[in-house]
Amino acid sequence: MSSKSMLTIENVAAAIVGIDNKVPLLNGNAVRYINFDNASSTPTLRPVLETLNAFMEWYSNIHRGTGFKSQLSTFYFDLGREIVAKFFNVNSKDHLVIFGKNGTEAINKLAHRVPLPEDSLVLVSKMEHHSNDLPWRFRKPVVHIDVDNMGRLDWNDYARKLEQYKGKVGMVAITGASNVTGYINDIYAIAELAHEYGAKVMIDAAQLAPHRSIDIKPTGHPQHLDFLAFSAHKIYAPFGLGVLIADRDTFKEGDPDIVGGGTVALVSEDYAYWTDAPEKEEAGTPNIVGAIALAKALQAITEIGLNNIAEHETKLTRYALNKLRSIPDIIIYGSVDEEEADQRLGVISFNVQNKPHGLVSAILNYEGGVGVRNGCFCAHPYVKSLLGVTVEETKVLEEKILMHDRSTVPGAVRMSFGMYNSKEEIDSFAEVLQRIVNNEYKGKYEQYTKTGEYKPVGFEMNFHKYFEL
Ligand SMILES: Cc1ncc(COP(=O)(O)O)c(C=O)c1O
Repeated sequence: MSSKSMLTIENVAAAIVGIDNKVPLLNGNAVRYINFDNASSTPTLRPVLETLNAFMEWYSNIHRGTGFKSQLSTFYFDLGREIVAKFFNVNSKDHLVIFGKNGTEAINKLAHRVPLPEDSLVLVSKMEHHSNDLPWRFRKPVVHIDVDNMGRLDWNDYARKLEQYKGKVGMVAITGASNVTGYINDIYAIAELAHEYGAKVMIDAAQLAPHRSIDIKPTGHPQHLDFLAFSAHKIYAPFGLGVLIADRDTFKEGDPDIVGGGTVALVSEDYAYWTDAPEKEEAGTPNIVGAIALAKALQAITEIGLNNIAEHETKLTRYALNKLRSIPDIIIYGSVDEEEADQRLGVISFNVQNKPHGLVSAILNYEGGVGVRNGCFCAHPYVKSLLGVTVEETKVLEEKILMHDRSTVPGAVRMSFGMYNSKEEIDSFAEVLQRIVNNEYKGKYEQYTKTGEYKPVGFEMNFHKYFEL
């Protein structure tokens, strides 16, 4: 496909870097790789790679460089920030776009820096990724909002906790969508209620942003999203960048969490005056290449249309749920209702009855060339509740893990779709899964106690055949 063609949901697969790469199987064959691990990271879009290739000819460090290349790089870095702002309908008068390392760093920065009243607390849901839970625990007491028995955010508990801690809730930090069950939270309703109680709201959009359009809404609007964080590597620009969008006032006062070059207006031998945010909050040389890549990826996604992406991924999700339900012995966590497929992301976590999740995912790879993920997906409390792991079981497991034995760690297998995946890929995946359920897989798999991983006995992967450094 020519890089100049208009990108559409129909032709986007051809614009995915590495889409036709074949990977080795246990039986000696090679098959086209099926990537169902998009919730973890998405591959690169070819227009992004082409843009970077062109940009590298002009690359230089930014801001105070006087040379042409430095001025050009500065111009496009700043434009990149504007493109990110526009994607979320951010009004740059009221808001800042701050670049960092990844989504986790963006949330950590906010948790460190956001002004919160002395005796306030933070409400966090029980469906959070650890990256939107642990940073808050280091800042303020955290109270968790329950999920219901299907793993959905328990709205009544949210309303109850806001009332119970009235006047004390400084921040409500909630994910836009779960990286385990794919549930999408009603972020605008969450924001509206939080604001009624005088709390700010922070949306972890790492999962939501690549799949649904998000509008920050103007400051003062009841549904305004005060803070938003997301990762470039989950939105087709895996070049190491995380973004925090924040109300401009947030960083006016206080010291940056990391200090050094770029953060200052002036420095004497005894004191320093900080410059204005966002530079104040981006110590050192920023990830210029990552910012250009992200901006290009967001332009490409805008061209394809998030509505078209959502519609395509909903069809895939519906199709996959239907397939999974037709295979006996599959346990799906969260909603299995195909009618609700448009209210969730294409993230499906499941187990095969009586088969360890590590074994299932290994067979999918070694005998099907399908890339998934297994374990607890950095959401231990949520996954344990979905799996029904008891407190007693947790105690035993924790002791084993602390003794470096991960052989019985509970978890699930997660498949997650991107805009370029297809029904044919789901068919191939379902065919391997059916073989696993029927015990018709070929390899003899051995588990490594320390990591919990399964590998086929007598099979070595020769990575040098595929890539050299
Ligand atoms: C919901 C959610 N939040 C935060 C993160 C962390 O993002 P990053 O890996 O960019 O630090 C992830 C990553 O999987 C995630 O799924």
